[in-house]
Amino acid sequence: MYQIKVPATSANLGPGFDCMGLAVKLYNTFTIEESSKLQIILKGTYTSNIATDETNLFWRSANILWKKISFKPIPLKITFNTQVPPARGLGSSSTAVVGGLMAANAFAGNPLDKLELLEIATSIEKHPDNVCPALFGGVTLTVMTENSLIPRILTKNPKFKAVVIIPDIMLRTEKARNILPKSISRQDAVFNASRVGLLVDVFLTEDYDLLAVATQDKIHQNQRAELIPGVLEALQTAINSGAYGAALSGSGPSLIAFCPNGKELDVATNLQRILSSSSITSKYLILDVDPDGAILTKY
Ligand code: HSE
Repeated sequence: MYQIKVPATSANLGPGFDCMGLAVKLYNTFTIEESSKLQIILKGTYTSNIATDETNLFWRSANILWKKISFKPIPLKITFNTQVPPARGLGSSSTAVVGGLMAANAFAGNPLDKLELLEIATSIEKHPDNVCPALFGGVTLTVMTENSLIPRILTKNPKFKAVVIIPDIMLRTEKARNILPKSISRQDAVFNASRVGLLVDVFLTEDYDLLAVATQDKIHQNQRAELIPGVLEALQTAINSGAYGAALSGSGPSLIAFCPNGKELDVATNLQRILSSSSITSKYLILDVDPDGAILTKY
């Protein structure tokens, strides 16, 4: 029997669309044992909209790995304990993908290393910005080349708290991607490229005062604001309330603000107030960055 604990993740961090992300100390945990037939048991805070048949993402991911290594599938009993809210831009689907791949790898005797797991996870998710920090922990940048991935862990223990605002509305990534334009201007490309460079520098040097500029974006947040009323004002409010920087978490609707010690509550309550003036109620969590990524324990 195995238990796999996979962290929630926040992708993009502003300008790092589809390539940057971080893991936080909020987890989906999967307990897996051999069984006579596929059984998926749902426990935890968020159990609706999770398939319990062969279409389940954890199970599909496991089977993709087994097929790739020509391993005969084993029927499993999988117990989900979900603390990561779905469709909120916090990488809940990546937890299922990473969990399924790690489980399948373990039952096959661990033939694949983490980089190979990242490659399969990225082929399932289509972009590596959630699955990379979910696997490796910390703050990550992943570069995709034509035939390989280059994951870099920039820091595992940044000295800020992540204030995560979770609106009580769901937003599917597919919908939030479909509204994005197919091309961007050279000006916007330069705006984002320069800020991604600055963002990497901030995580390496811990010069967090630069995060207000380094988290700015021109290629997805403005466009997505029409799906999440009040979001741009909320991001500015986070900074005015003492956060170092703030961004839409993944494709939204959650927001993440990077806060110095002591500013977390002000930032959280001010962000909630801005969203509620657009009739969006929300919860907040104050989280540390998870330094380890997914952990598998054998019982
Ligand atoms: N980079 C992706 C997006 C993250 O913004 O669409 C989705 O979780």
